[in-house]
Amino acid sequence: MADFSAPLKAPIYVCLLTYGCQMNILDSQILSGNLTRQGFVVVDDETAADAVLFITCSVRDLAERKVLGKAGKLNVKRNRRPEVVLGVTGCMAELKGESLLGGKNVFDFVAGTHKRHLIPELLLRALCKRAAAAEVTAVNAEALERLGIALSPYMDECAPSSERLFAVGRNESGEGPDELEAMRPRPWQAFVEIMRGCSNFCSYCVVPYARGPEVSRPAEEILKELETLAGSGCVEVTLLGQNVNSYGKDLPKGSLSFPELLEKAAKIEGLKWLRFVTSNPQDISDDLIALMASEKKICRYLHFPLQSGSNRILKMMNRKYTLEQYLEKVAKLKAAMPDLWLAGDLIVGFPGETLEDFQATLAAVEKIDYANNFLFKYSERPGTAAARLKDDVPLEEKKRRHAELMALQGRLTHEHLKSLVGTTQEVLVEGHSKRNRDVLQGRTTHYANVVFEGDPSLIGKFVPVRMESATPLTLYGSCERLTGEEKLTNEKETS
Ligand code: 5AD
Ligand code: SF4
Repeated sequence: MADFSAPLKAPIYVCLLTYGCQMNILDSQILSGNLTRQGFVVVDDETAADAVLFITCSVRDLAERKVLGKAGKLNVKRNRRPEVVLGVTGCMAELKGESLLGGKNVFDFVAGTHKRHLIPELLLRALCKRAAAAEVTAVNAEALERLGIALSPYMDECAPSSERLFAVGRNESGEGPDELEAMRPRPWQAFVEIMRGCSNFCSYCVVPYARGPEVSRPAEEILKELETLAGSGCVEVTLLGQNVNSYGKDLPKGSLSFPELLEKAAKIEGLKWLRFVTSNPQDISDDLIALMASEKKICRYLHFPLQSGSNRILKMMNRKYTLEQYLEKVAKLKAAMPDLWLAGDLIVGFPGETLEDFQATLAAVEKIDYANNFLFKYSERPGTAAARLKDDVPLEEKKRRHAELMALQGRLTHEHLKSLVGTTQEVLVEGHSKRNRDVLQGRTTHYANVVFEGDPSLIGKFVPVRMESATPLTLYGSCERLTGEEKLTNEKETS
């Protein structure tokens, strides 16, 4: 096995470019941790990197085109630095596999969604290959030397010969020694994976093909990770899974269900806020609703994707609920938690979606009164059941429907934010505002975005903020710590 513990004499700089969902952000943080522990230096600047790794998404065509466009541009820059490696992992790597290596493609290696543990070695091999081809002996000669020691037995998964650096699919012998210790940019905030994959097969979606069937992590492992996080100062955790409400169903009898896991997580001292994504409406249980209502650590924001307000379209999407069943769950949620804010996902222009179907979606959005919605134009995905249907809503019409829904959701979001003006909310301070570095930005339990003046020492802390005004996407407030007792003390000192 390659001796990855030996420190490199010359550093190898790796830049990770992350696309898509929170799962990919977490994958990227885990990879940063693994690579750093193995002696690589993870950098933000792709132009300074010896290797650029794309962590990709295939949910829509646009996401794939973005990656290919960016990789193409970086490839042009290799005229000057031919030793630079471009690698690809994530959903696109899994789905397109070896085809990403040949022809016009620019990648040097491909690692599928179950091959994260092979990435450091694939990276080294690719660096050696390019360095040898380009007759570069400086930095990457070191990697060559390291590889010369011996090769990892797990590289057998890299089929069929090490010359072609691709590894996709699942293997009988398990997933290899993958470290889950992520490198998190904000130590007080963490994503934690509780399950991988999805077994739902919504007709439009590639995720079950790209990430495989649902596999839950053992509860003890998750709870241990949460305790470690809490012990190191983490206060907010978001539990991740494509469908968290079916957590545990694949585990042996007697394992914890999702509400049971969440209840145990909420008991961990130090963790103050718990969030989770995503909840498939068909699987949300009364137990979960009751727990959320009684457990104040669980944030008052639920991502609860509807996808369409038309029963005809829901059926074609292979979503396993009707609008009426969805509304029933919403009524239960709101009865148990009147202050709960709901967010959703909606697709416009699914094959065969008529104006009437679309009107049903608009009416549902208004009725449900979402705080936020992620709105998508249908994108045909090869290999999915819906790809057999004619993609018959013209792009212009998809755009029109998308814009109409955006306008409606924009109004609802603004109304939600305005409803908090005049109240004081607990805000977890996330950092400086992106637009104005002089002010701070944070989130309420409702995931409302708040901007206010305050000292940077508040970053990572909870502070009470009085909400003073609301623009369509942001609340502006003032930190009560500065306007309350502390300010009075200051005034006394100066008088
Ligand atoms: N086209 C458009 N949107 C899609 N989504 C998933 N697949 C597609 C597709 N083929 C959306 C769904 C899902 C979100 C993550 O992406 O709304 O909930
Ligand atoms: Fe895709 Fe449906 Fe699974 Fe969500 S639940 S990941 S939309 S197949």
